[in-house]
Amino acid sequence: MEKSKYINSIVGHAMVLGASGGLGSAVVRAVAASGAAAITITYGRNKVAAESLAAEVAAQGVKTFIAPVEQADEAGFKRLLQQAHDAIGAEIQTVINTIGISPNVPIEEQSLDGRDGWRNVFETNVFGCFLSTRAIAERMKMKGVRGSIVLITSTNGINSQSQISAHYDSSKAAQGHMMKIFAEHYAPHGIRINAVAPGWIETSLNDTLPADERAHEMSKIWAGRFADPHEIAIFTAFVAGSGGSYCYGQNFMVDGGYR
Ligand SMILES: NC(=O)c1ccc[n+]([C@@H]2O[C@H](COP(=O)([O-])OP(=O)(O)OC[C@H]3O[C@@H](n4cnc5c(N)ncnc54)[C@H](OP(=O)(O)O)[C@@H]3O)[C@@H](O)[C@H]2O)c1
Repeated sequence: MEKSKYINSIVGHAMVLGASGGLGSAVVRAVAASGAAAITITYGRNKVAAESLAAEVAAQGVKTFIAPVEQADEAGFKRLLQQAHDAIGAEIQTVINTIGISPNVPIEEQSLDGRDGWRNVFETNVFGCFLSTRAIAERMKMKGVRGSIVLITSTNGINSQSQISAHYDSSKAAQGHMMKIFAEHYAPHGIRINAVAPGWIETSLNDTLPADERAHEMSKIWAGRFADPHEIAIFTAFVAGSGGSYCYGQNFMVDGGYR
């Protein structure tokens, strides 16, 4: 029996977008544990978290490259892909995009503009994701890389009824649909694109979740708790890696059971 065929692996150079975040940092650890030789780690504002994470995986023998990303800057993102290639000496083969924001605002007070407004939520969660995913897939196609891309969506984009996150939930629905279109378009080039839709995770993204809303949501989760980030990360690494080799265009829900 060829035992290695039955163990999930991620080979070569991987990139985790939003690696400074709660889920992103766990994904970096899962990607490293799956065997990646090198990981490009991106952050938005939290350079300290990215550097500390890079040091952690470098101590395990993983080569790292760290860079800031302003998600909706297409030209800057294309430059980053070239810089990551030059720093590591190999094309990126696996990408997991965990970038996202989730402001909680009563629907009566939601605006289009401002940090917590609809435009900024869509700019970050949808427009930025569109530009970066296209740039990655086009580069893989041009370089002949038969790569894998996983977007992190949310069950909020599938079954949410929460008015305080109407903009976030709508953006995650858009992201999930965009993934399916990308997946079909790039599959003929040997590029696999999927998404993982987590339920609630214990990260600082939920710092502004009101206590009553948190208790209400908790009462609906069969597991009786929010996920630890590693529980979503290990599944994500599986889908991104050899374990997911026959997965195309799926938006996998990982929600601890939720009704
Ligand atoms: N937590 C949950 O309950 C939950 C549930 C379902 C889905 N998700 C999804 O999981 C993903 C990760 O969430 P999380 O809980 O890990 O949140 P988090 O800890 O707040 O991490 C978010 C990450 O996105 C980066 N980021 C935010 N805005 C950015 C921008 N404009 N440009 C570049 N980077 C930006 C942040 O960078 P800096 O911190 O460096 O600025 C950080 O690395 C998100 O897509 C979220 O929607 C989360």
